[in-house]
Amino acid sequence: MIKTVSIRAFDDQKPGTSGLRKKTVHFMQPDYLEAYIQSIFNAVPVRRMLLGGDGRTFNDAAIAQILRMAAANGVEQVIVGQNGLMSTPAASHLIRKHGLDGGIILSASHNPAGPDGDFGVKFNGANGGPVPDAVTDAIYARTKEVSEYRITGQPAPAPDRIGETMLGDMRICVVDPVEDYAALMRSLFDFDAIRAMFQGGFTLCFDAMHAVTGPYARAIFEGELGAAAGSVIHAVPLPDFGGGHPDPNPVWARGLMERMFGDDAPDFGAASDGDGDRNMIVGRGIYVGPSDSLAVLAAHMPGLVGVARSMPTSSAVDAVARARGVPAYAVPTGWKYFGNLLDAGLISICGEESAGTGGDHVREKDGIWAVLAWLELLAKRRQPVTEIMQAHWRDYGRHYFARHDFEEIDSAAADALVGALRENLSGLGGQSFMGLTVKSADDFTYTDPVDGSVAQNQGVIIRFETGERAMIRLSGTGTSGATLRLYLERPVAGPKGLDMNPAQALQPLASATYSLIRLTGFTGRDAPDVIS
Ligand code: G1P
Ligand code: ZN
Repeated sequence: MIKTVSIRAFDDQKPGTSGLRKKTVHFMQPDYLEAYIQSIFNAVPVRRMLLGGDGRTFNDAAIAQILRMAAANGVEQVIVGQNGLMSTPAASHLIRKHGLDGGIILSASHNPAGPDGDFGVKFNGANGGPVPDAVTDAIYARTKEVSEYRITGQPAPAPDRIGETMLGDMRICVVDPVEDYAALMRSLFDFDAIRAMFQGGFTLCFDAMHAVTGPYARAIFEGELGAAAGSVIHAVPLPDFGGGHPDPNPVWARGLMERMFGDDAPDFGAASDGDGDRNMIVGRGIYVGPSDSLAVLAAHMPGLVGVARSMPTSSAVDAVARARGVPAYAVPTGWKYFGNLLDAGLISICGEESAGTGGDHVREKDGIWAVLAWLELLAKRRQPVTEIMQAHWRDYGRHYFARHDFEEIDSAAADALVGALRENLSGLGGQSFMGLTVKSADDFTYTDPVDGSVAQNQGVIIRFETGERAMIRLSGTGTSGATLRLYLERPVAGPKGLDMNPAQALQPLASATYSLIRLTGFTGRDAPDVIS
């Protein structure tokens, strides 16, 4: 029954910021998926696991193949979302709830899907979160030497009906992807207060972007909380996300932005991404950036023990931590770095500028959770989002923030830019660029306070004499060329200067940073492709 298939190893299976992500057609080539999945099984013992995905092109075929490989690799039980669907945070929850050894989540997150888009495989561990660097390194090492994979000769049953079936000796449990997650949310938030707010006429527009959160959002916002029918738009998950780019930001959720800034805008707008871990928050006439959203949620969170942000995220949340007398941690980019802090009980909330916010309830960022946290806050404060933000900036100061992305740069040019910057770091202090003087420049190294592990070269941080900060790093999730990310932050304590136009407020810092890194010289670019 069990076959061993000889294959050659692939030399491009190094996981990035969030799993292995490649063009869909690249993943579909013979043996490619199999080589990576076998490498996971070779590196990590798995007896009981979770399997699900965001439903993008190749999801079904990959689920079937992974089930057949799991059965041949000694896995005893697999919990699968019905029709192979499961949001990333819901997967994290089920791993934890059932004490599984880990899980495989099929997603390239916010990257577009379809034959021309991207596919991805993420592996999470027993705590429900992305595995730490030591484990991804071990998986990568196995990908370089894998020479065969194991698979059962039997076909895998389609996971279309809830219930249990056997594949060889392996039990497959097909579960409703929404049910347990919705119960978890009910246990965390004051659903009565939110329901009462909707009964009072509060209006919501949630854009599921034809991705995995549609069924979750319908069941929770419309079903349980009583938001009007139709409050969730683009609610049906489609294999190509309807041709869209399921990244919840003002550029890719333009329709939602127009609605929130138009006449008759709803009270509150939100969106999530391909696999349901990112969120976008927008009030009537006001966009709330992810760094600010994290700070506002932290300011309102009962029993806050500590906060964490990724290094490029603005320090707005640090100001809240200072005021509330709790520690603030800064970790490298990527959710895996929050896992130890959460497991050790050191923080209650964490987030990234890239639209990720999460708490201690799972070990992933969680889009629906962030929206519920905002809805609860709105139900209690009974103020429009604009007033909440203005009050927040008055209390804690405002941290103007933007990320400038330069996409599909020639990889050699991007490496040369970063290499030159790193070489010059020690000489930058005291130098001026377009009127701003550098105070310090260093390459971010993180030492995990829980297990002492060290992550080096996580991005260059430039601090200016006048308080501004720029951070420069290359993306670890792209699939063609290199993406250079510049993160710009300018704190203003107030009371003056709290209502500037963010682009104008950051313009001098942007120019200084472009000049400092010799952007045009290295890349030929002088303007970003995306500002978020
Ligand atoms: C990007 C984001 C990062 C996030 C990751 C996965 O990674 O910047 O914050 O954790 O996607 O969602 P990057 O492409 O910058 O490596
Ligand atoms: Zn995602």
